[in-house]
Amino acid sequence: MEKNKILAIVGSLRKGSLNRQLALIVKEIIGDRADFELLEYDDVPLMNEDIEFPAPEPVKRVREKVKSADAIWFFTPEHNHFFPSALKNVIDWLSRPTGEEEPPILAKKPACFSGVSLGMAGTSLAQDHLVTLLSFLDMDIMNFPRVTIPNAMQLMDDQGKLTLNETSYSFVKDQVEAFLEFVKNRVNK
Ligand code: FNR
Repeated sequence: MEKNKILAIVGSLRKGSLNRQLALIVKEIIGDRADFELLEYDDVPLMNEDIEFPAPEPVKRVREKVKSADAIWFFTPEHNHFFPSALKNVIDWLSRPTGEEEPPILAKKPACFSGVSLGMAGTSLAQDHLVTLLSFLDMDIMNFPRVTIPNAMQLMDDQGKLTLNETSYSFVKDQVEAFLEFVKNRVNK
C-alpha cells in the first residue's frame, strides 16, 4: 500500500527553530509509517498582486509540494500572540487561484497543529488564529489533540537544542497516532 504523504509547514524561517526541531521529532516518531517532509519556503516573495501572474518559481514549487501532499501538519511559533507573518504570507499565496482550472489547493486537505514557544501560552493563541484562517480556506481540521509546548527555555540546552520532557513527548506521540489515523480515514489508498 502506498504511504500517505504528510507535508510539514513550519512557521519559523530560523535555522535553529524550536518548531523545526519539533517537526523533526515528529518525523522520527512517524518513522516509515508515512512520508513526512518539511516544506522549504524561505525564498517565497511577499504576496503582491503585481507579481502574481505568472507565479514566481518558488511559489510554483511550494504549490506543487502542497498539491501532492495528502495532509499538512502546521508547526507554528507564536509572535505577539499570533502566528508569524512568514506563515501568513505562504498561506496567502496558497489561497489564490493559479490561473488554471483547478480546485483550491488547501481545501479539504487534512490539517493538524503543534507549536512550541518560550512563553506561557505555548502557541495556543497562535494556533487559534491559524485555525480560524484555515477554516476559512476550508481545510479539514483535526481540532483534537493539538500540541502546545510552553516555557521552552526549560527544554533547551545552551546550544538551543530542544529535548522534550516525558509529558510533552507523550502528547506529541498521541498526536502522531491520532493524525495518522485521521489522515488514513480521509485518504483512500
Ligand atoms: C516572540 N516570542 C513569543 N513567545 C510567546 O510565547 N508568545 C509571544 O507572543 C511571542 N512573541 C514573539 C514575537 C516575536 C516577533 C518574536 C521574534 C518572538 C518568542 C518565541 O516563542 C521564540 O522566539 C521561539 O523560539 C520562536 O519559535 P522558533 O523560531 O524557535 O520556532
